[in-house]
Amino acid sequence: MSEILISPGRVTGETRVQGAKNSVLPVMAAALLVRGEVVLRGCPALADVDSAVHILRHLGCAVRREADTLCIDASGISDYAIPDDLMRRMRSSVIFLGAILARTGQARMTYPGGCELGPRPIDMHLDALRRLGAHIDEEGGRIFARAESLRGAEIPLRFPSVGATENALIAACAAEGTTTIRNAAREPEIADLVRFLRAVGCRVTGENTAVLTVEGGMPSHGTQYRVIADRIAAGTYLCAAAATGGSVLLHDVETAHLATLCGALTEAGCEIGMEERRISLRAPEKLRAPGMIVTRPYPGFPTDLQAPLMAALLRIDGSAVFDETIFRDRYRHAAELAKMGADIVCEGSRAIVCGVPALHGARVTATDLRGGAALVIAALSAGGDSVIAEAEHIDRGYEDITGVFARLGVRVQRIGGT
Ligand code: UD1
Repeated sequence: MSEILISPGRVTGETRVQGAKNSVLPVMAAALLVRGEVVLRGCPALADVDSAVHILRHLGCAVRREADTLCIDASGISDYAIPDDLMRRMRSSVIFLGAILARTGQARMTYPGGCELGPRPIDMHLDALRRLGAHIDEEGGRIFARAESLRGAEIPLRFPSVGATENALIAACAAEGTTTIRNAAREPEIADLVRFLRAVGCRVTGENTAVLTVEGGMPSHGTQYRVIADRIAAGTYLCAAAATGGSVLLHDVETAHLATLCGALTEAGCEIGMEERRISLRAPEKLRAPGMIVTRPYPGFPTDLQAPLMAALLRIDGSAVFDETIFRDRYRHAAELAKMGADIVCEGSRAIVCGVPALHGARVTATDLRGGAALVIAALSAGGDSVIAEAEHIDRGYEDITGVFARLGVRVQRIGGT
């Protein structure tokens, strides 16, 4: 169990933003299709990326890490099962399902099951793979998928699930014939995966739209590829500056990917400047309430920034309303924030934040990755030191969080565990 100690302070300074965790993971899965070396740049040093490396090595791939570069060679793949402990470590390991199946003709793993954000069904992932010709048995929490060959198909998704779109896309690249994924997710990480797939010789079109078309056939060669910047990490640092009356300049960001968050922070009174791959924010002493924040699939407000923005708004004049439409149980941070003096009422998908004059330091527990980031933000804007337990949740998504915040002028210190 790891703990971090946070001393309040204004988040002020400059930093570059890490590569996107949610791009690196599906691209690592897609690298399984490639018979040749994939050199992947911009890979953040994160527990989830380490878990994905373990999965690839377990499957028989050669993986080397040099600084932020991963060299992956899947030529020698020799296994098709992901061990239970690796599935437990990273529930999004299900992203490997389509790739393993496509490459080896079978795949075995445990069901990701319920998690911190509520139930995490994978029915759309399985439906997509079945449409591509896979036989899938589910028994006692285990999934066994097999297919002698995959064939192109029409895949209509009932909701634009990010993970289901990724699984369908990767498997379709190895299928024979044409696949059309309708109501596909339009998150920037999907477009990043499509660009990677094209770089290794796959024929995919339609990124950034709701219809993806894949002309099947295994990828033909290795490549060198750099993943996009992590919009959620960038958004978290902007929220931290907003919460503390600070001022930041972030380098290496894709500014367009942060449009909805920047809209909300501007309404709240922050001054935001964007120029090519850089974003600056200057926050007032006290934020105002923005209009209602409704989480939606991209280009809507990202569910992953709901908790960080909520943490930034705890001391506003008036009240702010959130509507979480993506995940059913994504307000677990609210009870922890209340331990610091926040006034939040949760009712179904809604949460109402009534601004309080001040927060106080407290001992709190990270409930999940982004909820944990929200606790860091609130602690930085509180009146005394805080300790966050189970900080390993936060390490799953934020590279070198102590170093980044040190560059931004505040102290986030590790006091226990790894
Ligand atoms: C990805 C991101 C996560 C982000 C989420 C939504 C990664 C590694 N994770 O998660 O950070 O919060 O997108 O932007 O990229 N659903 C089903 N059946 C399915 C699949 C999903 O009902 O087969 C539901 C989920 O329960 C949830 C909603 O669809 O309510 C969205 O989930 P999805 O877009 O699939 O999220 P993930 O890919 O798991």
